[in-house]
Amino acid sequence: VKLFAYGIRDDEKNALTTWRNQHPEVELAYTDELVMPSTAALANGASAAVVYQQLPYTRETLAALAQNGVKSISLRNVGTDNIDFDAAREFGLQVSNVPVYSPNAIAEHSIIQMSRLLRQTKAMDAKVAKHDLRWAPTIGREVRMQTVGVIGTGHIGRVAIKILQGFGANVIAFDPYPNPELAQSGIYVDRLEELYAQADVISLYVPGVPANYHLIDAAAIAQMKPGVVLVNVSRGNLMDLDAIIAGLNSGQIGDFAMDVYEDEVGLFNEDWSDKPFPDPKIAALIKQENVLVTPHTAFYTTKAVYEMVTQSLDAALMFATGQTPAIAVEY
Ligand code: COI
Repeated sequence: VKLFAYGIRDDEKNALTTWRNQHPEVELAYTDELVMPSTAALANGASAAVVYQQLPYTRETLAALAQNGVKSISLRNVGTDNIDFDAAREFGLQVSNVPVYSPNAIAEHSIIQMSRLLRQTKAMDAKVAKHDLRWAPTIGREVRMQTVGVIGTGHIGRVAIKILQGFGANVIAFDPYPNPELAQSGIYVDRLEELYAQADVISLYVPGVPANYHLIDAAAIAQMKPGVVLVNVSRGNLMDLDAIIAGLNSGQIGDFAMDVYEDEVGLFNEDWSDKPFPDPKIAALIKQENVLVTPHTAFYTTKAVYEMVTQSLDAALMFATGQTPAIAVEY
């Protein structure tokens, strides 16, 4: 059996080697290059490809993979929003993702950022760095005093709820498909408008599918409590960033943490320290004391990377041997 993995980063190689040692019967080749028409031939001879990238998996790319004999692609991440599924269907490509590599990685990051905003750590750290060791006016708020609105109660949202309840927060949640077990605790509100009206803090855990495009827009923000704290660790396209900036400027939004950005491809996970920063909007947000920007790092933990690599390779091996992994994407 031959598998081919694209876009392998140095930090993934430990997990890859571990998996390879456990599967001596598998020929596993890889490249650090991303999958695109010009690199599709690298997978020639492998029936299953393992991939991760934020660039779109276009019709051209999928066609080129299929032409080279690839019959399945196994994503090392959860989001499938960058795949042309019509083309995948046309070329008979099976797809898997890793829906549960470590919900805690993302949930924890969201709560850490939320807590940092509530405690004004960015302002306090800046003062300390200048040797200004006074308390005032950098006073914090406690998580347990907040009503936190959780939008989306899949694997990640549910871990976030547990962590928040550990802090003693009053958690309310919205999901068009409520989790039956969670519903018993009476945590759900029926409409997003109710969550907007009640929540002091709002955090998103929903996929970036077209139905959720700009879920948080000017109209939604207007329904929120003045000074609301917003956290987005899910997908950039869930928020109309211009409306967020307007909300920050007016004070309607008090604090904001973003780990994702609609135009992050080519910007995040790049070093701009010695060259001009290409995005003035993000440059301005990074400077604001009530805004925390992280470059799509919520997922980035040792545990998550290990699971992403090994689970996607397991799935690819199953596809390559005529089986359907439990994490196959139905489309
Ligand atoms: C995902 O798993 O979909 C993510 O957002 C993390 C990815 C950028 C590695």
